[in-house]
Amino acid sequence: MIAGIIGCGNIGTELALFIDKYKGFELKYLCDIDSSNIKGLQTRLGNGQIESSIGDLITNSELIIEVVDKNAVKDILNTPDLDQQGKKLLIMSTGGIIENLNLFNKIKNCEIYMPSGAISGLDAIKSVSGEIKSLTLTTTKPVKGLENAPYLIKNNINISKLENKKIIFEGTLKEAIEGFPKNINVAATLFLASKFDKMQIKIIADPKAKTNIHEIICTGGFGTITTKTDNLPSKNPKTSYLAVLSAIQTLRNIKNNKKIGS
Ligand SMILES: NC(=O)c1ccc[n+]([C@@H]2O[C@H](COP(=O)([O-])OP(=O)(O)OC[C@H]3O[C@@H](n4cnc5c(N)ncnc54)[C@H](O)[C@@H]3O)[C@@H](O)[C@H]2O)c1
Repeated sequence: MIAGIIGCGNIGTELALFIDKYKGFELKYLCDIDSSNIKGLQTRLGNGQIESSIGDLITNSELIIEVVDKNAVKDILNTPDLDQQGKKLLIMSTGGIIENLNLFNKIKNCEIYMPSGAISGLDAIKSVSGEIKSLTLTTTKPVKGLENAPYLIKNNINISKLENKKIIFEGTLKEAIEGFPKNINVAATLFLASKFDKMQIKIIADPKAKTNIHEIICTGGFGTITTKTDNLPSKNPKTSYLAVLSAIQTLRNIKNNKKIGS
């Protein structure tokens, strides 16, 4: 299966190195706005990967891996000949899917993979979709990871001098997307799995935190599902290492004929 990676940053590099070792795919195309990222990666792979435009990569790859940002997701979903039988997409910037649900819903023939990313329990959440009475995602982050969010600027909230942790936002997914556009992938993936449109989101700024914590509480006729991940960062401090591992596991799932968990 010929693969192309859009975004040769932190996750893209780890996925390229994994594919190089795992040999389950033929990684042929690399795309990045910054050519030096591609060149750096090419020297570590050494298999003649080709620097490509996003359009050529999409046309020529059977597996398209998006590890850029939500704008790239829009570009991918807008590609005229994208929706072909057998094409596979791995999307990390799931916020871009939520913002382009009309384009996403039109896709009928591609297989789209959205890794669990920085959270746990998505298997259970998918299973109870349609039976959910309440769903809350509480995200606790260091102050640095939240500063300059539009919600804080609009409401004149200064978190730089916080001494103790504080709830700085409570609201719906739509409000979270507007208020914290750089922190929405986890909430977006949870919504796509649960399809629960009354999901509540809480964001806590913690001046003492060194990790990103995501807690999910989901109730319904099935009981209560509670999950918590306390995430150490990857090489990109904004990206949890679990998100990298989860993308790697998704690549394994694409090739495995034995699938564990729902
Ligand atoms: N689903 C999840 O739970 C989850 C978790 C962590 C990260 N993410 C998302 O995954 C994405 C990648 O994360 P990362 O840590 O690798 O980020 P990164 O910043 O390390 O890498 C992004 C790469 O994309 C390149 N890039 C930027 N704009 C581009 C464009 N227009 N065209 C081509 N290349 C472009 C950058 O040069 C960079 O190399 C981000 O959107 C991040 O929010 C999702």
